[in-house]
Amino acid sequence: MYLVLLGMLWFCPRLKGQENFFTINTIEMKAEPGWEVENGKNLTLKCHVDISTTSKLLSQHQVLFYKDDLLLKNVTSWNKEESFFIQAARIYDRGNYKCMVILNNKEKTTRDYPVSVKGVPRPRVTVDKMEVMEGSRVTVECSVPEEKPPIYFIIEKLEMDIVKQKKEKLALNQNYVMLDFPIEEQDHVLIFQCQAKISFGNFFEASEFTKSDLVTVRETFSIPSFQITPEGEITEGDPLKLKCTIRVTHMFLEDREIIIQKDRKIVAYNKEGTEVTYFTPIARVEHMGNYTCKVESSKISKVNSVFINITELFSKPQLLISSNHLDEGGKLDLSCQISGSSHANFTIQKENTTITNSQNFTKRAWVHDSGTYRCLAAIHNVIKESDPVQLSVFEIVSKPRIFHNSESEVIKGQLLELYCQSTNGTPPIRYYLCKMNTCKSHKEMYSNEPAKFLERPTATTEYTCVAKNHHSQGSVVSDVLNVSVIVPVARVNLSILLSEEVESGEQVVLRCSTDEGSWPIHYRFYKHDAAVPFYEETSNDTQAIWTTLKATKEDEGQYYCLASNRGNRQSKSPKSNIITVKVTLAPWMKGLIAVVIIGAIITTLVLVARWYFLKKTKAKQMPVEMSRPGPPLNSNTEKMPSDPNVEANSHSGYNDDIGNHTMKPTNEHKELDHSNVDVEYTEVEVLTPDLHRAPERKGTETVYSEIRKADSGENRHSRIEGSLDAT
Ligand SMILES: *[C@@H]1O[C@H](CO)[C@@H](O)[C@H](O)[C@H]1NC(C)=O
Ligand SMILES: *[C@@H]1O[C@H](CO)[C@@H](O)[C@H](O)[C@H]1NC(C)=O
Ligand SMILES: *[C@@H]1O[C@H](CO)[C@@H](O)[C@H](O)[C@H]1NC(C)=O
Ligand SMILES: *[C@@H]1O[C@H](CO)[C@@H](O)[C@H](O)[C@H]1NC(C)=O
Ligand SMILES: *[C@@H]1O[C@H](CO)[C@@H](O)[C@H](O)[C@H]1NC(C)=O
Ligand SMILES: *[C@@H]1O[C@H](CO)[C@@H](O)[C@H](O)[C@H]1NC(C)=O
Ligand SMILES: *[C@@H]1O[C@H](CO)[C@@H](O)[C@H](O)[C@H]1NC(C)=O
Ligand SMILES: *[C@@H]1O[C@H](CO)[C@@H](O)[C@H](O)[C@H]1NC(C)=O
Repeated sequence: MYLVLLGMLWFCPRLKGQENFFTINTIEMKAEPGWEVENGKNLTLKCHVDISTTSKLLSQHQVLFYKDDLLLKNVTSWNKEESFFIQAARIYDRGNYKCMVILNNKEKTTRDYPVSVKGVPRPRVTVDKMEVMEGSRVTVECSVPEEKPPIYFIIEKLEMDIVKQKKEKLALNQNYVMLDFPIEEQDHVLIFQCQAKISFGNFFEASEFTKSDLVTVRETFSIPSFQITPEGEITEGDPLKLKCTIRVTHMFLEDREIIIQKDRKIVAYNKEGTEVTYFTPIARVEHMGNYTCKVESSKISKVNSVFINITELFSKPQLLISSNHLDEGGKLDLSCQISGSSHANFTIQKENTTITNSQNFTKRAWVHDSGTYRCLAAIHNVIKESDPVQLSVFEIVSKPRIFHNSESEVIKGQLLELYCQSTNGTPPIRYYLCKMNTCKSHKEMYSNEPAKFLERPTATTEYTCVAKNHHSQGSVVSDVLNVSVIVPVARVNLSILLSEEVESGEQVVLRCSTDEGSWPIHYRFYKHDAAVPFYEETSNDTQAIWTTLKATKEDEGQYYCLASNRGNRQSKSPKSNIITVKVTLAPWMKGLIAVVIIGAIITTLVLVARWYFLKKTKAKQMPVEMSRPGPPLNSNTEKMPSDPNVEANSHSGYNDDIGNHTMKPTNEHKELDHSNVDVEYTEVEVLTPDLHRAPERKGTETVYSEIRKADSGENRHSRIEGSLDAT
């Protein structure tokens, strides 16, 4: 060795003296035994460098190994090949490896070489106990000491190769886990197995399962067992006893309860000891079913169940009834039957009161026999009850009474309450109301109270009613109720008979009539503005007449009448139309007046003429005998063309008051000379002023002014005619 070193030292100056050229041709990696290696196998990575140089000796260079770009090894070498050794490759050795060579200032690197490691070593499994009690727990430890975390562990609890429980856990910081497994009542001999999984990227490697030692489970108490008496078939009436028993390990000291349940109902329980008993002295069909015995400690619960079948001794009895609906006095038959006709003791009850202790019962039914019946059948100590049976006994309805509410008379259109009542007879009672033998409305009553019907009669009607219940004999009819209906007076009309315009001294006849209304009707005649009627009459007629024999001016005026009967009491009596009566002067009176006026005129004229002649005679000394009494009246007639009329009007003096301007020409009687008369008419329109009397009679009047132009010019006469009709 020393010699080699000395030799090198000797050579070095010589080398230095020479210029040395080199180049790195290639660099590559190789893996021994390969790039994929089984977990736990040795792996050698080799870096091979091919360098060309002008010198004969290989120059010194550095070789560097990287894993996932992290430096693993740095060696200074003179060799063509350098190795990196991995003893027992593990999953965590997976990765991308490369190597680099540096020669003076030149360097070259290989590509990345992926190394994969197959498989995970079998984990180690240990349990903390080999023998364990029901309800306690076992701790299982599983580890993979060769590998580095994170490791995913799966531990399973097995019994007879059947997985009973499985737990999984990821160990992040250590390569082992410790998990607790509860021991249940169904566990006997257990084994635990473990698997480890290590992931990388999207892939993972899983180990095989490793099994633990056997773990034996010791029972705390046994599954409960039933003892049933009587053994074998259980018949109704037998005493029934169910006993549930358990055996308890002497080491088990925990509290436990024993419960017997039928369906969801607890029928017996015990907090201490090892048994519980359910007893019933008489087994019945209702006791048949599924009984469950449960033993429970804090963590363990053991269950056993048994089906108790009870044979029926006899069937449920049935109460037969001849009919559920009976007429009063009908025959009631009750019979209690059980199928198979066994010899039993029977009881028939009505509303929990025994009415007979025999199988059959017969009687005549009365109303108070209505009710609920049931029967009991007993054999030895077994008593069974039938379903209830309903009996209704009907008393026939009594003759119904029909009546109405109002003591007073019934007025047309008003509501009438009619009642129908049968005081006897079993409800429900149905009442029919019949009008003139037509029965339309009906009412059902659940008591003997009267049934009420509402009517609005328009005319006098005969009512009857019919009552009916479930009694087979049908229906009963009431007496006839005659309801007389008062028809109130609706419309009244007042008319004047003969003529509306009456000459004084003639008859005035007023008729007050109605179109409908019950008799007697009370008629009242009023003169306008008077508070009290001037004539009243009650009659059994549709009209009433009032007459005055000699009409005077005082009878003139407006009239109306009222008519009412008993039906109009609540409402106002209807009022008639208004009639205006006019009383005119008799023709002889007009004539008299005319004569007086004409006489007055003639007298005046004569006086004037005399005065004239006297004056003239005095002046001219003319003899008085010259003057003649037949004067030409021209100048005088011109002076008084309408005077007679005005006077006649003012004499009559009523046309303004009444406002009825119908006037008969008053001049007819004082006509003097009609032989040569030329008539001229002037039409004038005048507004009627009588609005306050008869507002509806507003209108115009045509006044004809008749001017007579006598050839002689002696007489002139105007005539005024009203165009209105005074109805
Ligand atoms: C792996 O390497 C170790 C240490 O060098 C050695 O003891 C062992 O025998 C090797 N195993 C195999 C299978 O070659
Ligand atoms: C490798 O080792 C040499 C000498 O020990 C040192 O000079 C060099 O820096 C190292 N290279 C790296 C990358 O650490
Ligand atoms: C009785 O009840 C148990 C528990 O509820 C059930 O498992 C069993 O099947 C039932 N048996 C019968 C015959 O109904
Ligand atoms: C009870 O026993 C009777 C007679 O043995 C049998 O006919 C019936 O099916 C049983 N009932 C049940 C629910 O098992
Ligand atoms: C009759 O007995 C039944 C129970 O059997 C009870 O529910 C009912 O109230 C009793 N009726 C009368 C009227 O006592
Ligand atoms: C009761 O009546 C039934 C028939 O309805 C009859 O078979 C039975 O013998 C009668 N029972 C008695 C005790 O009379
Ligand atoms: C009926 O009642 C009588 C007297 O209580 C009893 O002696 C008899 O055994 C009963 N019969 C049945 C079938 O239960
Ligand atoms: C109307 O007739 C009834 C009976 O018909 C009678 O009682 C009454 O006196 C009569 N009234 C008049 C005013 O005639």
